[in-house]
Amino acid sequence: MRRQGYHGYRGYRRRRVYIGPVEIFAGLVAVAVVGMLAFRFLSAPEETVPDGFTPAGDAVLTPPTAPSQLPRRAATPSGIDCTLTDLGEDAVYTGDLVLVNNWTFFHFPENQEAGLSCILDHKSDSYYVRDATVYLEPTALEALNTMMDAFRAQGGSKSVNVVAGHRTADYQQHLFDQSAERNGLEHAKKYVAQPGGSEHHTGLVVDLGLLSGEFMDSTGEYAWITEHCSEYGYIVRYEEDKADLTGILDEPWHFRYTGVPHAAKITELGLCLEEYTDYLKGFPFDGEHLTITCPEGEYEVWYTPGTEVYLPNTAEYQVSGNNVDGVVVTCKVK
Ligand code: DAL
Ligand code: ZN
Repeated sequence: MRRQGYHGYRGYRRRRVYIGPVEIFAGLVAVAVVGMLAFRFLSAPEETVPDGFTPAGDAVLTPPTAPSQLPRRAATPSGIDCTLTDLGEDAVYTGDLVLVNNWTFFHFPENQEAGLSCILDHKSDSYYVRDATVYLEPTALEALNTMMDAFRAQGGSKSVNVVAGHRTADYQQHLFDQSAERNGLEHAKKYVAQPGGSEHHTGLVVDLGLLSGEFMDSTGEYAWITEHCSEYGYIVRYEEDKADLTGILDEPWHFRYTGVPHAAKITELGLCLEEYTDYLKGFPFDGEHLTITCPEGEYEVWYTPGTEVYLPNTAEYQVSGNNVDGVVVTCKVK
């Protein structure tokens, strides 16, 4: 005869339940998981930026990790010892890698012009400059001097005339209006950036003309400049096949300084600066880092959204904002 349990009359059989160490452990794990999920749900930060709201020219800084969650010290994949540092918001908008175009406006720093150098006063003897009003960032000017000296040394003629460098927003407006008046609005939009959207504002750009009055192109002896500019830290910024991405038609005379390592990588990959800015986002500090080998040596590169960044403690490095949402660290390893 089948033995009925105490509650057998209620229509189900009661099993004898054994609670041992395994069951106790499983119970504790379940309680911990439920607790963590509840904490995460209840402490989720409020959404501060409405979906789809990205005002032109403004970056939306959304650091993915709260400061307290990151360790103060950490090493890169190649073992470079780093310390977490908050650079402040301005860091996103300054440096050799800032992207500037008609939908990513330049953030004009206070007293920017005080930090620029007059090309006429500091140029080498290998080229000309339009007049004493053309200014450039000192690093970009030094690189221009070295590049033009090398151009001359390999047989180039002294015929290059720098016709533009740094521009204010007011001067850019004047150029745009002038172009629209002379050539029509559609032509102006294809060749002249909006005030605020010109990378001439950065002081990292030169337009190379010739003594003949023409703009330089990449034919004849000037092909050397196009082919070798990356060795001096410059890229040809506007190429015809990238016009859909840059918003500007080809300008073989417009050279943008990014520093040697990045100019080498941009040229090797055949990217425009818009594409390269996105490409660098694939190398976060806690992921794989980009290695760049160029004439100046070997570099390890990482990108960080926001401004709380791991910086090398002893190694030589440079930091640049991307003018969109974060910063890039370029560290010399060899
Ligand atoms: N010509 C370039 C696009 C400028 O105006 O900045
Ligand atoms: Zn230009």
